[in-house]
Amino acid sequence: MDQLGGLKTTFSWDKNRDHEWFLKSHEARKGTVVPLEKVNQVKKKRQKERTSGVPATCVVGLQWGDEAKGKIVDLLTGEHDIVVRYQGGANAGHTVVLGGEPFKLSLVPSGIFRPQVQCVIANGVVLHPGALLEEIERLRARGVQVENNLLVSNRAHVIFPWHIEEDRLLEKAAGGEAIGTTLRGIGPCYRDKVGRTLAFRVGDLYRQNFRDRVREAAQFKQRLLQCLSGEQITLDAEAIYEEYRQYAERLQRWVGDSTAYLLDAVEAEKRILFEGAQGALLDVDHGTFPYVTSSNSSGVGVSSGSGVPARYLTKVIGIIKAYSTRVGGGPFPTEQANEIGQYIRDRGNEYGTVTRRPRRCGWFDAVAVRYTARLSGVDVLAVMLLDVLSGLDEVKICVGYELDGQRTTNFPAHVDELWRVQPVYETWAGWKEDISQARRWEDLPAAAQAYLRRISQLIGRPLEIISVGPDREQTIFVQGPIF
Ligand code: IMP
Repeated sequence: MDQLGGLKTTFSWDKNRDHEWFLKSHEARKGTVVPLEKVNQVKKKRQKERTSGVPATCVVGLQWGDEAKGKIVDLLTGEHDIVVRYQGGANAGHTVVLGGEPFKLSLVPSGIFRPQVQCVIANGVVLHPGALLEEIERLRARGVQVENNLLVSNRAHVIFPWHIEEDRLLEKAAGGEAIGTTLRGIGPCYRDKVGRTLAFRVGDLYRQNFRDRVREAAQFKQRLLQCLSGEQITLDAEAIYEEYRQYAERLQRWVGDSTAYLLDAVEAEKRILFEGAQGALLDVDHGTFPYVTSSNSSGVGVSSGSGVPARYLTKVIGIIKAYSTRVGGGPFPTEQANEIGQYIRDRGNEYGTVTRRPRRCGWFDAVAVRYTARLSGVDVLAVMLLDVLSGLDEVKICVGYELDGQRTTNFPAHVDELWRVQPVYETWAGWKEDISQARRWEDLPAAAQAYLRRISQLIGRPLEIISVGPDREQTIFVQGPIF
């Protein structure tokens, strides 16, 4: 027996009514069947209760990363008690601009700039303790408080020097097929996590057998790296142990059981914001495999990466750029390796936050984003960097793909197909105005409004936020319908 919106209910399948759900209420037990409309009323009520209740919001990138998620997370942290990073590692780079001052973050959640917000690096993250400590020190040096508002999961996995070396050697060996990784050891660390034997979680740094395990892992990895490189490689196990022992000591004050903490928090109705890293098209299961990162960077990763069941999520905000970018290898159907791409790169400062590599730039791909918005359970969209497109005579949106003479709006599962697709474009009028001062929907030129409307329509999700510059103030919150 379940309590649904005040009605005692059980569900049953009525075979006589063409596979529709029926709700059996008190009357049902007396033999009366409640019609479908009533079921829907109850469902709506329950939905409303869920969404008007305690917010557990997820911010997820819907393209190939670098969608400026950090700005949105920073804007939303004021309404949340906890901000959680749940996948990826120092391959991610977020820039948050406060009062014109850029702050670069890699592992620390973007909520760190508000001292009342608790920041959590959850179990799904892989981290190099030295890189994390460096980031913490950089923040401290600029007056950001990190002492009592950061929690690092004892289940998060640890990146060792051999992971970074393995990443480099494998990329080198792949030649033209290289993924173009950030060379931060992310993939090899996740591989060891899934492989289980040579993996270290943050909690392992504090266990008695840590030294022995480092020795064992170093021996094995030395042999592996020698095979990969064909060179003599020495891993000094004792030096690595000593380095990591010191990291562990310095990190200890922040280490704890983030899963238990977050489960307590949802039960205590704390407001949680989940901060995705990378973008959904880099998701290891659902992205452009194998040109992906090694974690679930779409909305599906929230639950496994944090331990918080997906049913607690009340809102998913899909972050998109007003165009597309990609760093590293892999297919990119709307890429503009021409003066349009260069225009976008220059105006959008499209160079990697972590690696400074120039990003590949192109038109907005509605086929890809419709797919990732559905996959991530997106409720609303935030469109970033709209100001970058100002000054173009026309702007294009990819509304379909031609694949082997057939038109499709499905996103192919295999990269071989994605390499072959020809984008089908709609061309829209551009706008010349500087829109960086726009603060309301009405302030945008008609052409920019039409472009955004079309994107929202193609993705099938409403627009909630439009960003016209890096600062907090350069943001439009869309009020009411725009159609
Ligand atoms: P890895 O995550 O370093 O293994 O790199 C795998 C792929 O993901 C490469 O194409 C990287 O360029 C890409 N990638 C990883 N992190 C980010 C990010 O934060 N933004 C954009 N691309 C990323």
